[in-house]
Amino acid sequence: MEAAAPVVDAEYMKEIERTRRDLRALISKKNCAPIMLRLAWHDAGTYDAKTKTGGPDGSIRNEEEYRHGANNGLKIAIDLCEEVKSKHPRVTYADLYQLAGVVAVEVTGGPAINFVPGRKDSNVSPNEGRLPDAKQGSSHLRDVFYRMGLSDKDIVALSGGHTLGKAHPERSGFDEKPWTKDPLKFDNSYFVELLKGDTNELLKLPTDKALVEDPKFRRYVELYAKDEDAFFKDYAESHKKLSELGFIPPSCLKSNAGTTALLAQSAVGIAVAATVVILSYFFEVNRKLN
Ligand code: HEM
Repeated sequence: MEAAAPVVDAEYMKEIERTRRDLRALISKKNCAPIMLRLAWHDAGTYDAKTKTGGPDGSIRNEEEYRHGANNGLKIAIDLCEEVKSKHPRVTYADLYQLAGVVAVEVTGGPAINFVPGRKDSNVSPNEGRLPDAKQGSSHLRDVFYRMGLSDKDIVALSGGHTLGKAHPERSGFDEKPWTKDPLKFDNSYFVELLKGDTNELLKLPTDKALVEDPKFRRYVELYAKDEDAFFKDYAESHKKLSELGFIPPSCLKSNAGTTALLAQSAVGIAVAATVVILSYFFEVNRKLN
């Protein structure tokens, strides 16, 4: 069942800022930015644009979902977030996990990501199998990310999230290796290393390799490897999209309501003007006849 949307008033906004501060402190203290980013991505990455199900709704906290194979190990991040949730109970899990992802990127030196709160929590978990399988190639990546409503550019930019962290054999079965030499620094080195091929000991999943083998993906890999600013700009945009899949920010609702009111006002204005023109015409015709 889906809970009601939180009321995003001034007090909720203040609570979000306090939560942000606590997350910053927690992530720095525990050096847990990589798993926090993975948590945010796995909560959001189940979105299905056709059925409008899944997405960043906090449902990954349900045992049924965190026990999905792709989510192995994420209970650690869920429990860390619980410490923050207990201090800020008004903030929804959906907002909390996405804010944790944003803060993880920022505290490790990545771009600032615009965060809009107001996500609803859900107790309904999607069926297993919506997250990508690292053993597959580019057509699988497209199937999964297009289902979310994301593009080729989003796929490559977001894969840059592997600038952080490493694989854990007991979680994913892959060798314990990071993708970059400094797995706690968010930079463009994931793309630099990817273009070097198998010349070093760093991790390259089959899905990472697909990004250099597929010509459309490779264009972006080359761009991001040589231009970190371009990567940061695109990453911040794609991350925001991922964190808002299926979410209509309350401000949009307000501005949509505002637009509707404006349109209604204009329609009334046009109707009044038309009546005046018609009446003056009849008045003039009448005057001429008399
Ligand atoms: C493109 C498809 C993707 C696949 C197939 C994939 C797969 C994986 C796998 C197998 C791991 C290792 C998990 C472990 O053993 O602990 C991992 C870790 C990670 N993934 Fe991805 N991932 C993908 C996309 C993303 C995206 C879009 C992000 C974020 C924007 C991301 C962020 C991370 C992070 C930060 C870790 C490290 C976690 C840690 O060190 O605990 N991944 N991913």
